[in-house]
Amino acid sequence: MNNSRQIDRHGRLRHFLSIEGLNRKLLTDILDAAESFSGVTEQTVKKVPLLRGKTIVNLFFEASTRTRTTFELAAKRLSADILNINITQSSTVKGETLLDTLRNLEAMHVDMFVVRHADSGAAHFIADHVAPHVSVINAGDGRHAHPTQALLDIFTIRRVKGPDFGRLRVAIVGDIMHSRVARSQIHALNLLNTGEIRIVAPKTLTPAHAESLGVHVFHELRKGIEDADVIIMLRLQRERMQGALLPSEHEYYELFGVTEAKLAAAKPDVTIMHPGPINRGVEMDSEVADGPHSVILAQVTHGIAVRMAVMSMAMHHKESATE
Ligand code: NCD
Repeated sequence: MNNSRQIDRHGRLRHFLSIEGLNRKLLTDILDAAESFSGVTEQTVKKVPLLRGKTIVNLFFEASTRTRTTFELAAKRLSADILNINITQSSTVKGETLLDTLRNLEAMHVDMFVVRHADSGAAHFIADHVAPHVSVINAGDGRHAHPTQALLDIFTIRRVKGPDFGRLRVAIVGDIMHSRVARSQIHALNLLNTGEIRIVAPKTLTPAHAESLGVHVFHELRKGIEDADVIIMLRLQRERMQGALLPSEHEYYELFGVTEAKLAAAKPDVTIMHPGPINRGVEMDSEVADGPHSVILAQVTHGIAVRMAVMSMAMHHKESATE
């Protein structure tokens, strides 16, 4: 997918479609902006007037709770007006239908679309067809990308482990094959020169040619999380699986479910992450999910500041386009 369209000729964010196409400086700038916005979220009056008078539409073609609500809160904390439109309809990007929806919303003078869609490439397609002043943020497209999730994960790691990713070993465990989150995380971790990136999954849930993504592949949990600084677990995406890729959830839990006992293989100060929603007793035990190493709820909190940063930076492009 061509990502050049997300950066303008001044090197600023115009849309935010994927981690690919960002450079390390821009990625770090977004994280730094998020760091300053996280202060806003902790104030008694949780608002800044940055996007006052702007209209943002959450255009969700696929169900979501935390992503949609954190985008909504982020927009509100930036003082924008935000509208939630949930269109649950079957797969394929139906060129005309989708374009008609867009044109109608554009006629209402919308400034930004936050798009989630079950088809890979949907946000790119929309970005190709919006008016020049409108920005598009990808909130998850098919199995392709979920760039704001990857950013909030990186933000969380940086908060806990510090800015030097070169000394970190990060293991991503679970259904890598169907995960847009894993793909975006791997690009972001590579961009920050992470010491070692591992993916740990059954063979049936490992993408073909995974090594070409710059990761080490493991099919055994204990070896895969050995001496890990960070373990990111992913949900089994049953809704995206065709046929019997898994014998049973119970067997998956036996082999790949993370328990307190299995955690002993990782570093003593290992950080445990999950983008949610968690399947307790499948990907991990409650003891791990709610335990002292878990930053799963902090990830949700950080999602607001990171989304405030992305939205305000992409909207800023619009201001400068009319200079
Ligand atoms: C992820 C998603 O929707 O891609 N969840 C999320 O954004 N909170 C991961 C998942 O659904 O497993």
